[in-house]
Amino acid sequence: MSEGYGYGKVILFNEHFVVHEIPAIASAIEKKTIANVDDSKTEGFTLSDDRPETPGYKKEKSSQQKDSLDRIFKAMKIDEENVRMELSGDLLAASGLGASAASCTAIARALSNHFELGYTDEKINDVAYEGEKGYHGTPSGIDNTASTFGGLIWFKRGKQNVIEKLKIKAPVEIAIGNTGLVANTSAAVAGVRERKEKNPKKYEKIFNEAESLVYGAKEALESYDLEKVGKLMDKNHRLLCDIGVSCEELDLLVEIARKNGAIGAKLTGGGLGGNMVALTPGKDMQEKVAKAIEDKGFGVIRTRIGV
Ligand code: MEV
Repeated sequence: MSEGYGYGKVILFNEHFVVHEIPAIASAIEKKTIANVDDSKTEGFTLSDDRPETPGYKKEKSSQQKDSLDRIFKAMKIDEENVRMELSGDLLAASGLGASAASCTAIARALSNHFELGYTDEKINDVAYEGEKGYHGTPSGIDNTASTFGGLIWFKRGKQNVIEKLKIKAPVEIAIGNTGLVANTSAAVAGVRERKEKNPKKYEKIFNEAESLVYGAKEALESYDLEKVGKLMDKNHRLLCDIGVSCEELDLLVEIARKNGAIGAKLTGGGLGGNMVALTPGKDMQEKVAKAIEDKGFGVIRTRIGV
């Protein structure tokens, strides 16, 4: 039995904008997907998916998962016959947490170990990117990068992606609120593209704001000015609302988080459902915000960024 892992992630700044080559910042979280691969006693390929999930997530994503697996096998030039695979770990299979990327990364690592391919992290990242195409057509690559390398990541898509690891003084607590809605990232990305083409002037202005904001966010993170990071997350949420990727439930979670002391809150990932991330430095603030989210009937994850 060979094992592989992939981190879950939150995007702190500029999901969606990143697809259009504007820099973004993501962080791995302290939750992982684990893949185990073994030779199968029975003929053919079997997958047992034991990840915890937002109800309905795995069913909704099953054909995308199949497409993704085919792409991974193809990218690794592996014949998928007679392989048994199990997915597990403590990362919730849910929209916005990098669940698809974490599973692609974990699977690529487990297969590399099983078939003794000796893949480097860079090669694992390339394979995971191919796998991500099964889930969201034209991924920017930020999710699989955070999932593969972990830590806090500055990412700019381009002919050659720019990937930079950011260092911060100490990890920071966050609370992640789950709308409970399974979202379709491809549709959300396509929607932004369509609206951008229809309203080029309006979108150019928003995109310019997103671009200048993320440089300030990088500086604030590196100088550990968390108040400023939080303020910029709030602003980033506003820009994401302006491009039409938030929804009532996400806005409600943002409001609950801010009312209960979070110093910043925004949707994370594709939006239109999925998850919200609140910056809550210190265990007390994290607990207060997490509890308030739970009291309103939403799921919550207590974890950290910049680990
Ligand atoms: C999804 O986690 C992030 C998006 O920006 C899509 C992508 O970057 O591929 C919405």
